Amino acid sequence: MPRIFITGSTDGLGRAAAGALIGEGHDVVLHARSRERAAALRDLAPDAAGVVTGDLSSAAETRDLADQVNEIGRMDAVIHNAGVYLEPSRGMTADGHATTLAVNTLAPYLLTALIDRPDRLIYLSSGLHHAGAGSLRDIDWTSRSWNAARAYSESKLYVTALALTLARAWPDVLSNAVDPGWVPTKMGGPGATGDLRMGHLTQTWLAVGNDAAATVSGGYWYHRQRQAPAPQARDPAFQDQLTDRLAALTGIALF
Ligand SMILES: NC(=O)c1ccc[n+]([C@@H]2O[C@H](COP(=O)([O-])OP(=O)(O)OC[C@H]3O[C@@H](n4cnc5c(N)ncnc54)[C@H](OP(=O)(O)O)[C@@H]3O)[C@@H](O)[C@H]2O)c1
Repeated sequence: MPRIFITGSTDGLGRAAAGALIGEGHDVVLHARSRERAAALRDLAPDAAGVVTGDLSSAAETRDLADQVNEIGRMDAVIHNAGVYLEPSRGMTADGHATTLAVNTLAPYLLTALIDRPDRLIYLSSGLHHAGAGSLRDIDWTSRSWNAARAYSESKLYVTALALTLARAWPDVLSNAVDPGWVPTKMGGPGATGDLRMGHLTQTWLAVGNDAAATVSGGYWYHRQRQAPAPQARDPAFQDQLTDRLAALTGIALF
């Protein structure tokens, strides 16, 4: 039975994916940002393969989180789901980074580098990643004026590029990115027009599905359909520059 780790499983799409996979009898490792937030997993935890905690805005906590996951054992699939949207300001994480970049890009990068390599990797992207195209000169927003929507779009472009980089670099791993659509979660808000079930179905299908369509790598998906990601996300030169920047910002080389 596949074992799946899902970041940000206390709420929204992560929680919905975890509930669906547990309901199908899979071993799911749940994640909360803190012991206090783990209380939100009280109903799912008894049927889960474990609960791990760590704030993804902190590199130290993210590293510790990777250790907790590795202690449970090797995962068959990891769904990098946790994310933040419109942060009112750049913020300053304990490591000095913009919160949006830290949670949405640096944390999945670090976890990818530090968790024993699974068979499948799924990264939650967004249709808004198309609006993130541009220069990699100031990805941590140290010199630009803060623009929350732009920062979110960029962070999702980077995580999409990361998914496609890994598909290229690790041929033995299935690595894909998913746009869940605009769905009514804490992040999406009550006005979201998308279907919550369709919002989590693609990532669970990519995590455990065995049909030919689900066992491919390097895709950008929306509702189980492959779509074209932003050109930069699949540009090897952009991918290499991004990987170098992420290695420099985290102090961890992925390759
Ligand atoms: N909803 C949409 O319309 C939409 C559209 C496109 C893409 N997405 C993407 O889909 C993913 C899931 O979104 P969602 O709508 O389910 O969001 P959500 O309802 O806000 O849930 C986000 C999850 O991430 C966790 N999280 C946030 N910051 C964290 C941190 N610093 N450390 C640890 N955990 C943290 C949250 O924990 P807490 O419960 O403790 O806050 C929660 O479990 C995100 O990557 C998002 O960018 C969503």
